[in-house]
Amino acid sequence: MLHTITIVGAGNVGGSTAHACLTRRLGNVVLLDIDERIPRGKALDLSQAAVLEGHGCDIVGSADYADSTLSDVIVVTAGIPRKPGMSRDDLLRVNADIVGQITKNALKYSPDAVFIIAANPVDVMCMVAHQAGIADTRRIIGLSGVLDTARLRAETALAAGVPGHTVQGLVIGEHGDGMVPLPRFTEVAGLPAALLLTEEQTEQARKNTVSGGSRIVEYMGSSAHYGPGAALAVMVEAVLRDKGDILPCSAYLNGEYGIKGIFMCVPVRLGARGVENLIVLDLTDEEKDAVARSAACIREKTAAGLAAQ
Ligand code: 2OP
Repeated sequence: MLHTITIVGAGNVGGSTAHACLTRRLGNVVLLDIDERIPRGKALDLSQAAVLEGHGCDIVGSADYADSTLSDVIVVTAGIPRKPGMSRDDLLRVNADIVGQITKNALKYSPDAVFIIAANPVDVMCMVAHQAGIADTRRIIGLSGVLDTARLRAETALAAGVPGHTVQGLVIGEHGDGMVPLPRFTEVAGLPAALLLTEEQTEQARKNTVSGGSRIVEYMGSSAHYGPGAALAVMVEAVLRDKGDILPCSAYLNGEYGIKGIFMCVPVRLGARGVENLIVLDLTDEEKDAVARSAACIREKTAAGLAAQ
């Protein structure tokens, strides 16, 4: 029996996520939006591509949440994207309303689904989804470190002259300018990256990671979607395969890292129930300070986001 993945929001990120999930054969996909024309058009396009891609999964485009009934995973990509000069935080109030309503609508038809949130500011949007009716916070996962770490890995690979898939790395904290790349965890083919990169190259890779999303917005006038789509498909697969993959995701902290009551990116083990457990790293004092600053930013924005509800 194939899983069902509902993607709410048929914009660039939603379409890229649908394609990435289908080509990974993760399950049948329902692509939803408020106007059925875009999801139906993209579904038709993806179904024609399916003939050449041979994944055998179905794709439906709709504006009716009833078509998402009993989905295993709900991916929320809807919300206004950034424009040049906008921060993710500028989207807060508008997207809080959108994500709150989507969550209520999706829960009616898929009360047990795991929700993966991509709308920004994502750490706040995860809390909005919780407040909108997903009581079990383990069923809420935010797109954050999988994408930011991919950017760190890509920048490191470029500097080291190696293929990106041979690089591992870690970014935690908020999905925003206060994110916390952890260069000491970066490895190239199992070797400490410091053996291959100068301090200047390491610092430049860190800076390019933090600005990775904004630079795309400045180039294109809209936000990234291939990277987010690929990252979301990795997270969907980790949940549906239930194999305990460890990934950096925005998750609810209940005292871990000395932080309670917000969603923030840390390494988590993902499985069928969503977040199986959070992994607590032994951080340096400098890293702890950066994480504390990141958490304080999230807490402030979360208060503003919930006040907007
Ligand atoms: C990004 O960082 C959209 O937040 C996403 O590109």
